[in-house]
Amino acid sequence: MTRIQLPESSRNAAITLLNASTTELTDLSIQAKLAHWNVRGPHFLMYHQLFDQVAEHAREGSDSTAERVAALGGVAGLPVQDIATTSPLPTWPMTLRADAKVLAALADRLGIVANHVRERIDQAALAEDADTADLLTELSRILDQDLWMLEAHEPA
Ligand SMILES: [Fe+2]
Repeated sequence: MTRIQLPESSRNAAITLLNASTTELTDLSIQAKLAHWNVRGPHFLMYHQLFDQVAEHAREGSDSTAERVAALGGVAGLPVQDIATTSPLPTWPMTLRADAKVLAALADRLGIVANHVRERIDQAALAEDADTADLLTELSRILDQDLWMLEAHEPA
C-alpha cells in the first residue's frame, strides 16, 4: 500500500529492477569484503582500503535500492540463501591471494553489477518511473567511479 501516484504496472516494473540490483549489490558487498580480508601483497594496505570502499558503496547502494522498493509498496530484499541462488555473480574464488588477481576478480564482478544498473536506468525510464531511473543513474555513477579506481591499478 502506498500513496505514490504511479500506475501499478510502473511500480511493479521498478520493484523488479530494484530488487535485482539489491541482490547483486548485497552479493558484491560480501565479495568485496572477502577481497578486503584475504588480499596479500607488498601494497596490501592500499588494496585492503580500496576493496573496503567498494564493499561500503555496494552496501549503501543496496540500501538505496531496497528502500525505494519499500517506498513503492514492494517487498525489499531477500534472505541470504535466496541471494545465493539468484545472484548472477560468479562465486568468489577463495584461493585467490595475490593483489593483482584479487583486484581483477573484484573488477569483473563490479563490472557486471555496474552494467546491469546502467541497463536498468533505461528500463525504469521505459516503465515511466523517473525517480527510480534517477536513483539508478546516481548509483551507476558511483559504481563506474569505483570500477575506474580498480581498473586504474591495473597495468596501463
Ligand atoms: Fe575491515
